[in-house]
Amino acid sequence: MAKKLVFSGVQPTGNLHLGNYLGAVKRFVELQDADAMCIYCLVDLHAITNWQNPKELRQNTIEVTAAFLACGLRKEHSIIFNQSQVTAHTELAWIFNCVARIGWLNRMTQFKEKAGKNRENASLGLYCYPTLMAADILAYHATHVPVGEDQKQHLELTRDIAAKFNNDFNAPDFFPVPEPIIEGTATRIMSLRDGTKKMSKSETSDMSRINLTDDNDSIRKKIQKAKTDPFEIPSEKEELVDRPEAENLLGIYATLANQSIEQTLEQFSGSDFKKLKGALSDLLISELEPINKEIKKLLDQEAYIVEILREGSERADQISRPILEEARQLVGFLK
Ligand code: TYM
Repeated sequence: MAKKLVFSGVQPTGNLHLGNYLGAVKRFVELQDADAMCIYCLVDLHAITNWQNPKELRQNTIEVTAAFLACGLRKEHSIIFNQSQVTAHTELAWIFNCVARIGWLNRMTQFKEKAGKNRENASLGLYCYPTLMAADILAYHATHVPVGEDQKQHLELTRDIAAKFNNDFNAPDFFPVPEPIIEGTATRIMSLRDGTKKMSKSETSDMSRINLTDDNDSIRKKIQKAKTDPFEIPSEKEELVDRPEAENLLGIYATLANQSIEQTLEQFSGSDFKKLKGALSDLLISELEPINKEIKKLLDQEAYIVEILREGSERADQISRPILEEARQLVGFLK
């Protein structure tokens, strides 16, 4: 059996929020600590599919790297780098643009959501964003990809691209068909203002999300103001249907307390939201305060962070270059 190789990416487009943390980065750390070979990427090429202020993109890349480190990723155990420093990503993405079908890309719901009504005016990069994502993963022959629920469709497309490339170029098993890891109670954390919408960096109201850089007072305020409903907390999971805000707050609590939704319902059933919100704020603060402090410390060491990304990029390049070279030969490119 092929060795387990984990790959995942995060866009450096602003502060990481609780959804990124619980749905992705916390899992990255667990996998790293479980001794898998892990590669984690700041996907700056994906970030520019929507225009970014160049100074802010640079700063956000530093800040998200600082957040990775503050959450527990270690350069001794994981490769941490930014995508644009490793050319295999764009080269392979072009090959995949010629393997993937327009019909496949037309089905991507995230493009439809992000492009909105003004689709004609979206960048071409936003449209073929998933083929670059496939290249990220397959350039390392990654076998496992931890992500939140919103990336599931992109992972399915990656699997289709791997299979079609292998078939088109008569190279069975050249690209492994990667497995998504979408597990646990936090694969889809919702907005604090609307339990039917995912927590996201692009939501205009900052009250809709908890950022890893929020101080304790902001965390308490945001949880206190989080939307709820007029009913008490039920005892059965089935009673959470049509109560998305209650389900979200209970789900966040369960994840942070390392327990199931059922155990959480048992703990709070019959009480009002005030009690849950108080306990949730305490848990959030005890989890995020040390991370927040560490991010601040690391931001004073910019040169150190830049060096981690440079070193990580070199290591990523060493792994991806021979795989790209083999793909080029399979396609028939002259050396
Ligand atoms: P991005 O930057 O939008 O999000 C980073 C990770 O956070 C997860 N996530 C969430 N999980 C739970 N609840 C939420 N509300 C929530 N919001 C975000 C995302 O699922 C993701 O795992 N296309 C990717 C980045 C990417 C990538 C890759 C991922 C590029 N190449 C290769 C894996 C493998 C993205 O935009 O993630």
